[in-house]
Amino acid sequence: MRHIEDFPADFLFGVATAAYQIEGAVNEDGRVPSQWDTFSHRPGAVLNGDTGDIACDHYHRYADDIRLIKDLGVTSYRFSIAWPRIQPGPGKTNPRGLAFYHRVLDELDRHGIIPAVTLYHWDLPKWAADRGGWLNRDVAEYFNDYAAILFQEFGRRIPLWITHNEPWCSAFLGYALGEHAPGNRNWREAMIASHHLLLSHGKAVNTFRSLGVEGQIGITLNLTVADPAGDQARDHDAAHRADGYANRWFLDPLFRGEYPADMLEVFRPTVGSYDFMHPEDAAVIRAPLDFLGVNYYTRSIVFDKPGDGPLNLGYVQPEPAESTAMGWEIHPESLYRLLTRLEREYTQGLPLYITENGAAFDDHLGVDGQVHDEGRITYLQQHLVAAQRFVQDGGALKGYYVWSLLDNFEWAFGYSKRFGLIYVDFPTQTRMLKDSAHWYREMIQRP
Ligand code: NOJ
Repeated sequence: MRHIEDFPADFLFGVATAAYQIEGAVNEDGRVPSQWDTFSHRPGAVLNGDTGDIACDHYHRYADDIRLIKDLGVTSYRFSIAWPRIQPGPGKTNPRGLAFYHRVLDELDRHGIIPAVTLYHWDLPKWAADRGGWLNRDVAEYFNDYAAILFQEFGRRIPLWITHNEPWCSAFLGYALGEHAPGNRNWREAMIASHHLLLSHGKAVNTFRSLGVEGQIGITLNLTVADPAGDQARDHDAAHRADGYANRWFLDPLFRGEYPADMLEVFRPTVGSYDFMHPEDAAVIRAPLDFLGVNYYTRSIVFDKPGDGPLNLGYVQPEPAESTAMGWEIHPESLYRLLTRLEREYTQGLPLYITENGAAFDDHLGVDGQVHDEGRITYLQQHLVAAQRFVQDGGALKGYYVWSLLDNFEWAFGYSKRFGLIYVDFPTQTRMLKDSAHWYREMIQRP
């Protein structure tokens, strides 16, 4: 596939970023600390002690960056708003934080680029983290207040709204596996956090409707396909569990109004009581969506591993030859499998967006001043073919966003993993279009 004629004319091609990963300027214009400032400054939490203090310096370079987005020829830009810039404390609003995002939206407007905005991409304000973070049910209410501020302020300017980005990561990487802020290792906490994240999502969707905001609202989940490592029944059971953990734990409450019964049983011995789930929550979480955002990077291959955490799951590591710098297997076929499964079992014609897809490779700025990232081009091309196949089948896919516009702060991996179409030299923050950026521009160009 070299051209995009087979995608519908209104299909959105975009690039994506997130506030803490690119903005820097953590002390400017009234921004207060977030849990990721605290976490990244904790010795040992992030590779090489990297932090988002400066990141890509996008806070100061946003106008140039939006010019680069324009030059890529994309129709849409997905970014997140930093809650700690908007609310210095509960019940407070920081006008200088709002002003920054108005400036960003002004630039996008000027270039005719459609904004898709994530409300929460993991940078919980420290004041909310100090009150227990996502373990505290009140934080769902704080999130709703924050969402209401954004809906009122930007309601006329933003057509696509995403409440949460990858709540699985916020809950499980943050509270059970200790890899993300706040860095806890407690499975009961992860279950509580996942419930409050979903609850906060539902509350925000209801607020969006009651304010009569014109745009569309959805949520972005990181979803996968879990394949069994072998043919035995216990391998298949393991794959079903892995699917429950990664996919159904979020999809079922959002689309069916209940957590998957098998997973409630799997987690029960660890969680004890589900007293944090109130009977009235299910209807809130199930608030009808306008679309589902899907972040897809890889599939997983699993086997039954008794004694390994509450899930008893082992993950097969793929051969290095077919994986990215993250060690993630390259498996575009599973993107097609995932989309068809979602449409069949959950979304049934509701619009889908691939809100992230992309790959990290060990990119180098060559002596010729170029970055020849063939691996990324192949990866993107193969996944676009998978997406196109789904569209040609009549699938309701409305857009595709490459992660990411820029090399940036890759959470626990700091600046060691490069996902950008645009190379960023740290610490000068100089930008350089990689070959994949030129390829993407050509590929999405309408004849
Ligand atoms: C998912 C996350 O949303 C994003 O923040 C992260 O950088 C990419 N995946 C790559 O891991």
